[in-house]
Amino acid sequence: MRPAPTVVEGVRVLRLPDAAAVAAAAAAALIDAIYQAQAQGRDPVIGVATGDTPQATYARVTAAVESGCLDPARAWIVALDEYVGLGRDDPRRYRHELLRKVVEPWGVDPTRLLVPEVDSADLTEAAHVFEERLAAIGGVDLQLLGIGRNGHVGFNEPGSDPEQGTRLVRLAPSTRAANAVHFRSVDEVPQEAVSQGLATILRARRLLLLATGPQKAAAVAAALGPEADGPVPASVIRSHPHVTVVLDHDAARLLR
Ligand code: GLP
Repeated sequence: MRPAPTVVEGVRVLRLPDAAAVAAAAAAALIDAIYQAQAQGRDPVIGVATGDTPQATYARVTAAVESGCLDPARAWIVALDEYVGLGRDDPRRYRHELLRKVVEPWGVDPTRLLVPEVDSADLTEAAHVFEERLAAIGGVDLQLLGIGRNGHVGFNEPGSDPEQGTRLVRLAPSTRAANAVHFRSVDEVPQEAVSQGLATILRARRLLLLATGPQKAAAVAAALGPEADGPVPASVIRSHPHVTVVLDHDAARLLR
């Protein structure tokens, strides 16, 4: 039997047994968004998150592409954020991660990957250009989101203004500590990034937030429940008209 979604704070929440089920549900939603745009004669615009959570989802979409069921060659792939301070060819740049995990395996034209520009001397202007390019391609059809342990989305750390767009941000020490697994030490983790703002994220026509594992349970509960220590950034999704949160058992543990 398929688990039915519940509604928490106006948000559709699908609680599934494990991470594999989350990936299957998310991949189905992603594939559907691509089909829907193509049926309307448009190039799909898919917003993607980096991090470990969505990797199994991307692999399932890759399997659909390889089986010949899906051809996203003309889709636009839009990143949420990019580290500042890594060399252009550094494999830990999110641009390179998305080329490896999404763009190449899905057969998307690499010129259709939109990532905030971080090599410019004027990052305020670069963030503005990112917003303009995003608007020019028609905005995001479906934005996939992960959630940080402190409730961040993209790199919008606690205290981010929900009205803000793409901009230079400073990473919280806990975010740098969590992301240190991808670096030799926490000292190597960049201090800054350019991130889509919460206002940018809320402009996507659909949002799909994924969370798996017990380490995300508190952030999920804060995003969708009473906010003891003030709002966490992810709670802005409550104001979006088309949002689904997909959780595994462990991530849903603290949700009422
Ligand atoms: C990172 C990214 C987010 C991501 C989050 C969770 O720092 N900027 O976009 O959703 O943290 O990552 P993970 O899925 O690896 O837990």
